[in-house]
Amino acid sequence: MRAIELGEYGGPEVLKAVDVDVPEPAAGQVSIDVAYAGVNFADLKARAEGYRVDALPARLGLEVSGRVRALGAGVTGLAVGQEVAALTSGGGYAEVAVADAATVFPVPVGLGLRTAATLPTVLPTAQALVHAVGRLQPGETVLVHGAAGGIGTVVGRLAKAAGAGAVYGTVSSSAKAAYAREHGYDELFTGDFARDPGALEKAVRAATGGRGVDLVLDPVGGPLFEAGLASLAVFGRLVSFGNASSAAPWQVGQPELYPTGISVSGFSILTLSQTAPDALRALAEAAFAKVVDGTVVLPVTAEFPLADAAEAHRLLGSRTSTGKLLLKVA
Ligand SMILES: NC(=O)c1ccc[n+]([C@@H]2O[C@H](COP(=O)([O-])OP(=O)(O)OC[C@H]3O[C@@H](n4cnc5c(N)ncnc54)[C@H](OP(=O)(O)O)[C@@H]3O)[C@@H](O)[C@H]2O)c1
Repeated sequence: MRAIELGEYGGPEVLKAVDVDVPEPAAGQVSIDVAYAGVNFADLKARAEGYRVDALPARLGLEVSGRVRALGAGVTGLAVGQEVAALTSGGGYAEVAVADAATVFPVPVGLGLRTAATLPTVLPTAQALVHAVGRLQPGETVLVHGAAGGIGTVVGRLAKAAGAGAVYGTVSSSAKAAYAREHGYDELFTGDFARDPGALEKAVRAATGGRGVDLVLDPVGGPLFEAGLASLAVFGRLVSFGNASSAAPWQVGQPELYPTGISVSGFSILTLSQTAPDALRALAEAAFAKVVDGTVVLPVTAEFPLADAAEAHRLLGSRTSTGKLLLKVA
C-alpha cells in the first residue's frame, strides 16, 4: 500500500510517498481502508520537531475516515465493511490505517465519509474546550486564538450555540476575520500579539468594557498565554490546549491565580484517548450529534491527493488556511 513517511525532521519536503506492507490490527485494534485523512496542526509539529514521534522513519496522520478492513482479536461492536471515523496514534496518511477500537466511531447516519474525516480530532476537542473543561455558561464571554482554523471554527459555533454572551477571536489576517464572523465570532482581533501581547489585553478590555473575558481557549502558548491570563475577568478560566508558538512550557502559581481567583486547565485529546477512552467517547457522541443536527459545520476548504501531503502541510503552515484540510486517499 501507499503511505506517507517521514525519514527526517524538517520542512514539508521531508514527507515522502512510499510502498509499505499493509498493517494488521493487533488485539483490540481494527484496520481501516482509508477514504480520507485529516490534516492537523499537530502533524506539522510532528514533521518539523518530532512532536509525539517515537522514532524515525515515522508515519504521520491522526485521523481517518473509511471502511473497516479487519478486526483484531477481541473487538466487538464493529463489522468489516462498516463506515467509520477514527483517531489513530499515527499512520493515518496511508491507504490502510490501524486504530484502537476504542477510538473508532461509526459514521453518524446522514454523514458521508468526507465529512466524517473532519470529525475525530476537532469535534471532541472543541466539545471539551467549550463544555467539559471550559464549562461555558450562558451569557459568558470567550476569547479563542486561531479562530479561523479547524478547532477555531467549531469552537465559535459551539460557543454561540451554548449561549455565549460574546465570542472573541484572534486571527492573523482580515480574510480570516471575515471567515470567523460566519462561524459564530462577534469580534476578531488581528495583530502581532506574540510581539505585543499587551495590545491584545488592551483590545479585550476595550471590547468588554474593562471587565475581561470569562474563558480563554489557548492553543498558542508563550506571550499569548500570558496575554490570555491578563485578559481574564475575575474568576475567569483559561484552557491551554496547544503550543503553536513552540514556547517553553508555561508555569503558573499563586502570584497569577490568587489575586482575581482565576484558574488554568488543560486538554489533550491524544492523551485522553489513552487515559480515559470512555470520556472521549462521550465527548465524541455529544459533538457528532451537533454536526448531524446542523449546529456545527466544519467546511473542508482544501483537499489534496495522498501523494501531495507536503502541499497540504505547506498550506496549513502558511497560516492562510481556514476550516479543515483533507487528504483524499481512495
Ligand atoms: N489539545 C488538543 O487536544 C488539540 C486537538 C486538536 C488541535 N489542537 C491544537 O489546536 C490548534 C489548532 O489546530 P488545528 O489542527 O485546528 O489547526 P488550524 O487551526 O487549522 O491551523 C493552525 C492555527 O494555528 C495558528 N498558528 C499557526 N502558527 C502559529 C504560530 N507560530 N503562532 C501562533 N499561531 C499559529 C493559525 O492561526 P492564525 O494564523 O490565524 O494565528 C492557525 O489557525 C493547534 O495549536 C493544535 O495543536 C489541540
